[in-house]
Amino acid sequence: KENKLWGGRFEDSVTDAVERFSESVSFDKELYKHDIMGSRAHATMLAHQGLMTDSDRDSILHGLDEIERRIEAGNFVWRTDREDVHMNIEAALTDMIGEPAKKLHTARSRNDQVVTDLRLWCREAIDKILARIKQLQVALVSLALKNEGLIVPGYTHLQRAQPVLLQHLLLTYVEQLERDAGRLVDCKDRMNFCPLGACALAGTGLPINRFMTSDALGFTAPMRNSIDAVSDRDFVLEFLSANSITAIHLSRLGEEWVLWASEEFGFLTPSDSVSTGSSIMPQKKNPDPMELVRGKSARVVGDLVTLLVLCKGLPQAYNRDLQEDKEPLFDSVRTILGMLEVTTEFACNITFNHAKIERVLPAGHLDATTLADYLVKKGLPFRTSHEIVGRSVALCIARNCQLSDLTLDQLRSINPIFEEDVYEYLGVESSVKKFGSYGSTGSECVAEQLKFWIAKLHMN
Ligand code: ARG
Repeated sequence: KENKLWGGRFEDSVTDAVERFSESVSFDKELYKHDIMGSRAHATMLAHQGLMTDSDRDSILHGLDEIERRIEAGNFVWRTDREDVHMNIEAALTDMIGEPAKKLHTARSRNDQVVTDLRLWCREAIDKILARIKQLQVALVSLALKNEGLIVPGYTHLQRAQPVLLQHLLLTYVEQLERDAGRLVDCKDRMNFCPLGACALAGTGLPINRFMTSDALGFTAPMRNSIDAVSDRDFVLEFLSANSITAIHLSRLGEEWVLWASEEFGFLTPSDSVSTGSSIMPQKKNPDPMELVRGKSARVVGDLVTLLVLCKGLPQAYNRDLQEDKEPLFDSVRTILGMLEVTTEFACNITFNHAKIERVLPAGHLDATTLADYLVKKGLPFRTSHEIVGRSVALCIARNCQLSDLTLDQLRSINPIFEEDVYEYLGVESSVKKFGSYGSTGSECVAEQLKFWIAKLHMN
């Protein structure tokens, strides 16, 4: 067994069980690129500050380039006895270039190193997620454009409520995704401060320049407090919270589309390319991808909860528990990226069944509220109108018909205020035409919203 980097103080090496239990390289090698990035900036700063020679720096930089190449070519041997990504890279560098490599860890600890890597990694991950969110928004707006004018039942409590334009409904998800993106952008701004140079926790007496490394790595500024710098994981918590909210939005979309794909609704049909069959029931065609989007939201929320519980009992500064932050983080990002990608593909591969929707649209008295508004326009207080329309609906239920089927005499038998113009308010289509308040489902209002998104998403 090779001597550990801390070999000086130790006589024995750890047992195999402890080694297997504590290694993190099997998952934190994911950070290699950012670890190397950090080391490049650190070595450059050390040389600039006179803490190593330019020639040492150059051998380190060349060595790091070579290690990066090997990792990317799959020729780098990751060793669990070297514990984590940081020690694997440092030890490989020492194997490769000898003495100069031993200067790289000057004024640095794995405590500030790992959290610098993590911030760099998260920054990049957020950009990837933002790009996928935008792709999904574009797919949803395109889907809306393909279904202009289609009226669907709007539900509350999953009971028929009021008629809405499908476009209006699809744009709800675009709005929600926009806030999801906003949360990620805020999180990235708050995250973008550099812990490097905090060392183990106390900083250092060596003449380093933290502003230089912070700049070189594209951070806004070095973190003010060295103890905070190595303690803080709230940037990960915030990131996973943002992912959880996005996941919940996607899960709700998944639920809606799974429901709509059922025989009972029959409002949409996914293409074969996004459906799966049954191994026993030959007739089945299931919307599995959206069920899995709904299901995988559980993982994303679980990842957040794991991290919350991980952090809750920790005193300040680095504790080894923090090594457990990486798997939930990586899992959350991998999962949310997959969820966004598959939801986008699903959105590009569904058809709304106009004929079926139009056939079932008259049921459920979707125009009742519009009728109450009619009576308000005639001068009645809303509560009185509500009562009158309620009695009209009861009459419909007794006669098994819709409000628009009632004759003027039947309506007048409930209240004489009804006049011939009432029919301009009845029926789903007339009802939708009456909407005009800002943000409402009226076709002009929805057209305004669409115009906004087409411009915002650069779709024109
Ligand atoms: N592998 C460790 C982690 O992921 C790196 C930091 C270890 N620091 C230490 N003092 N043991 O958190």
